[in-house]
Amino acid sequence: MQWALHDPDHGAYGSGRLQVGPRGDFATSPSLGPDFAALLALQIAQWLEAQPPQAPLALVETGPGEGQLALQLAEALSQGWPALAARTELVLVEPNAGMAARQRQLLEHAPLPCCWCSFEQLAAEPVAGVMLAHEVLDALAVERIVWDGALWRHQRVALHGEPGAEPLLRLQAGEPLPPEALAPLEPLGLLQPGSQRPPGWTTELHPGLEPWLQRAGRSLASGQLLVVDYAHEAWRYYAPQRSNGTLMAYRQQRASDDPLLEPGHWDLTAHLCVETLVAAAETAGWSQLGQRSQGESLLALGLAQRLHGLQQQDSAQLPQLLSRREALLRLVDPGALGAFRWMAFSRGLAAPDPCLFLQDPPLA
Ligand SMILES: C[S@@+](CC[C@H](N)C(=O)[O-])C[C@H]1O[C@@H](n2cnc3c(N)ncnc32)[C@H](O)[C@@H]1O
Repeated sequence: MQWALHDPDHGAYGSGRLQVGPRGDFATSPSLGPDFAALLALQIAQWLEAQPPQAPLALVETGPGEGQLALQLAEALSQGWPALAARTELVLVEPNAGMAARQRQLLEHAPLPCCWCSFEQLAAEPVAGVMLAHEVLDALAVERIVWDGALWRHQRVALHGEPGAEPLLRLQAGEPLPPEALAPLEPLGLLQPGSQRPPGWTTELHPGLEPWLQRAGRSLASGQLLVVDYAHEAWRYYAPQRSNGTLMAYRQQRASDDPLLEPGHWDLTAHLCVETLVAAAETAGWSQLGQRSQGESLLALGLAQRLHGLQQQDSAQLPQLLSRREALLRLVDPGALGAFRWMAFSRGLAAPDPCLFLQDPPLA
């Protein structure tokens, strides 16, 4: 997964081949239009405003994809909160040169100063502000494991084929997990007596999360981290009936559960497990603020009022208004983007944390 996504020449992100958006390989919330960022900006502004006055601020976006969310947030902040925007730098953390090149182009005339840094560069001078991880942690390489009826084994990718023929890739059970590698399965409910799964039952673990959260934590002296991603609680993620985990491949708006299709041409993504994320974050020094579905979060930030506001606008703009209306409804659709999880964490803050999206939306 690491190679297929991040190899600088052949990886789907590393080469810059994958395109995010409704006309690209897959759509994300910000790729549907600027309303998502306009609503999220309210939460970001509230968090930034809680930092000591006059101090320089950073809005760090990890994994910015095409750079749309970063640009839209810069525009929303500079229009709605100009004093705050004047103190804020946009910091983009993008390990893939191919993606960073497109982000630089899009953000060339952004209304906030922008810089591209690695976590390691930031750690030399940690910033204060807000860090976003929107659809990023689902791209960290997962570890697949398979129950063979007696033991938990790693699942491996093997080359297979007759001599002289084009070799094929296939998934196969590998060596058993050593005793120390079984410990993370305990809190996921996979080791309790009677919790045995049928032979061939496969799932994934997330060993990349804690190191990522440690590196992210060293980059942010004080502020909040907002993770937005597909996520399930452990009881759902590791339910007996979910017999093949959540690993999926996406290309040109098509989805497949075969992660070995044309490696380097498909996005590979796995859901997050809420408990695993929270435990990894706490080990890495983050405090959990709370979590909500995207639908609830956006309603708490004023999505219903924004939808209502569209009806008051000039009907000469009807096609744009209708497409914004459709995008807003997609963002909260519980069968689609509305089911995404917003999970907030903080570090280095003395005062209680203001978190708008965890408050109940006002009654209509
Ligand atoms: C699915 S795209 C998300 C794009 C954007 N955030 C959006 O929602 O439209 C994933 C992005 O994360 C980047 N990425 C992948 N692994 C990463 C990592 N370990 N740290 C930071 N960014 C990463 C990819 O190169 C890509 O830009």
